[in-house]
Amino acid sequence: MSDSSLARLAELRGRRVRLIPFDERHLEALRRWRSDPEVTRYWVTQAAATPEQMRAWFDRNRAAGVLMWLIADEHGRPIGYIDLFALDSVNRKAELSLMIGERHVWGRGYAREALRTLLRHAFAPVATGGLGLHKVYLSVFAENVAARRAYAACGFREDGILRDDIYRDGSWHDQILMSVLEHEFTELDAPR
Ligand SMILES: CC(C)(COP(=O)(O)OP(=O)(O)OC[C@H]1O[C@@H](n2cnc3c(N)ncnc32)[C@H](O)[C@@H]1OP(=O)(O)O)[C@@H](O)C(=O)NCCC(=O)NCCS
Repeated sequence: MSDSSLARLAELRGRRVRLIPFDERHLEALRRWRSDPEVTRYWVTQAAATPEQMRAWFDRNRAAGVLMWLIADEHGRPIGYIDLFALDSVNRKAELSLMIGERHVWGRGYAREALRTLLRHAFAPVATGGLGLHKVYLSVFAENVAARRAYAACGFREDGILRDDIYRDGSWHDQILMSVLEHEFTELDAPR
């Protein structure tokens, strides 16, 4: 890993959440969340993974320069995972994925807070230790209303629909493309 990518993997602090650079010690928690069918209902991959597969996934991501964080709550307990992948330094954009894996904390605003914390870092200028991105984007199952609301609350707008994009449980599902631009987030996040 290069020095610059190490610098980009800073620990990030929100009001309650901490985003901790993801490492091997966190793989078991993520494996447990990924084995919960309720958590993966709208997740891209549903197959439960073995510890060996998780390790291989982690090594692949690290080699590909994916920026991965564990989300910890205000008591330091692991509650989820968030990452930025497909980093494109020419067009200054990256794709985001997010999972609050502990179901008992759903609906308490942790997703919104983790998103805001990561977006502050993503859009902050490189000179101040940020990633200097212009756009962060993602795709989300149309039926995943909770995720769409959390994204919208952090400034994401809908760019379009990928019709019948995923075949799951005997039927086709649309995915919604969403993105947020730097100035949109900065205006939303400015102290009032
Ligand atoms: C989707 C997910 C990230 C939401 O996390 P969370 O911490 O519960 O989200 P928040 O509490 O910040 O916000 C959720 C929003 O959805 C709403 N919501 C929660 N459950 C809902 C439901 N079943 N239907 C409609 N809205 C719902 C909440 O009221 C809140 O909206 P509001 O702020 O306008 O009131 C979490 O459930 C999760 O990780 N699920 C599994 C993985 C996943 O689907 N990830 C997203 C892939 S794109």
